[in-house]
Amino acid sequence: MINQKLLFARAYEKEMEGKIGEESRPKFHFSPCVGWTNDPNGFSYYKGMYHLFYQSNPYDTVWDSMHWGHAVSRDLLHWEYLPAAMAPDEAYDDAGCFSGSALELDDGRQLLMYTGVHKEGGDHGEELQTQCIAVGDGLDYKKYEKNPVLDASVLPEGLSRNDFRDPKIWKGEDGRYHCVVGARRKNRACGEDTMCKDNGACGIGHTQEGEASDLDGLGAILLFGSPDGFSWNFESVLVENDGRFGKMWECPDFFLLDGKYVLLCSPQDMLPEGFEYHNGNGTLCLIGDYDKTAKKFSFEKNQTVDYGIDFYATQTTLTPDGRRIMIAWMQNWDTCDQNGAKERKWFGQMTLPRELSIQDGRLYQRPVRELLLYRSNKVEYQKVGFEGELSLDGVEGRIVDMELTIRRKEGAEAYKKFAVRFAQDERYRTALSYRPYESILKLDRKFSGSRRAYIHQRRSLVREKDGELKLRIILDRFSVEVFINDGEQVMTATVMTDGAAKGISFFADGEVVMDVTKYTLF
Ligand code: FRU
Repeated sequence: MINQKLLFARAYEKEMEGKIGEESRPKFHFSPCVGWTNDPNGFSYYKGMYHLFYQSNPYDTVWDSMHWGHAVSRDLLHWEYLPAAMAPDEAYDDAGCFSGSALELDDGRQLLMYTGVHKEGGDHGEELQTQCIAVGDGLDYKKYEKNPVLDASVLPEGLSRNDFRDPKIWKGEDGRYHCVVGARRKNRACGEDTMCKDNGACGIGHTQEGEASDLDGLGAILLFGSPDGFSWNFESVLVENDGRFGKMWECPDFFLLDGKYVLLCSPQDMLPEGFEYHNGNGTLCLIGDYDKTAKKFSFEKNQTVDYGIDFYATQTTLTPDGRRIMIAWMQNWDTCDQNGAKERKWFGQMTLPRELSIQDGRLYQRPVRELLLYRSNKVEYQKVGFEGELSLDGVEGRIVDMELTIRRKEGAEAYKKFAVRFAQDERYRTALSYRPYESILKLDRKFSGSRRAYIHQRRSLVREKDGELKLRIILDRFSVEVFINDGEQVMTATVMTDGAAKGISFFADGEVVMDVTKYTLF
């Protein structure tokens, strides 16, 4: 029996879907059927299709009352909406079906594992987060009668039941199921099971419980194991935040990639470190080794996942041909500019799915190769030498895949600045500019039609290779993703500029020699 709340959401989605014009959505980036989305959930391959579930509030363009929206795709680029998969309709998830993941069980059913949120004592009560399960056929899902399958009773001493979420599940080579879940140490300065907003001075009588320590309030990733996907045991604290990488760690993912173990997560409240971690709600990639006996992950490398503005909550899956693909929310909690969202009736997009690899100890990302199938109208210019402003015939558009290689002119002095501007007309432009003396690539969408003083610029330290900087710039109607040096770094941002601003132009202070290959997409 499908619950009323879910039936209502499904009917609402159906009614609204047709009312949102094609042109007011991104062309090939996923956007919600209607209303708000944040994290991608349950990104997986099941019965011949990629499935993407998503944190969804169908009824408004702001975060509220989390449902799981649902879509499928054959190529990771064209998504077809399916009816919402879950609504917050049980006592243990009535305050939201938070993020989670999906996989195929041995018996062919699809299992969803997610965080159920319940507020003890009403709307203003303490938030309890538990891990829950639903099972289905790729269309309809039934919540497990023994939910929750993991609750506060499994938490190691000192961890909070308020921040225990976002299970990522996989099946190991041992045939067992495993999952990682984000957790957080209690703030013992106040002793309560919730973050004390007043650093212990809140006066609501929290009991002291042990000595406060530097680890209080910090994230940890917990590892659980299961023989069948339904009954789960705590296995270990896989890795802990020592205070260097923000506080709570959301949306963990853990996998083997090119011989190394990788932990991805989205830490809240990050401090910048050099040119890393400039988004307060950041993304973190730890690369290292896994001790199978102790069930502990140790890392030797850390890096930001995406160096742009709008990026959070990554999730990966494996394709049938063995590629590790990552998708993420192409937004950030700090930059949710609602300008125009009400009229558009949707808010939030997902990034392009990206193929991951490890090269020279770093995480590399490239757009899924399926995108190459949708390139058309090739326009190519080789070794264009120029100084000052430049426009090139055939180089314009808002749904574009463009590769640039930039170098100084042989024998000439190094140029001072190179810029490529797009989503441009008399009023608007978004720019990528590069200063070789500083090795800094800057993304600036100040003139993109935003009427709010959100962050609109981000700088990233980049590395020329053999005197060249390579950029692959992917524009959809409402976004830009810049893949730098074949995916060594990526900068992502939403660009909500009016679609009529289609210009692309170049600028050089000093002599630049540039190769340009530009395709229309779709
Ligand atoms: C991350 C997050 C998750 C949570 C979800 C709620 O963006 O805060 O930790 O499950 O969003 O919508």
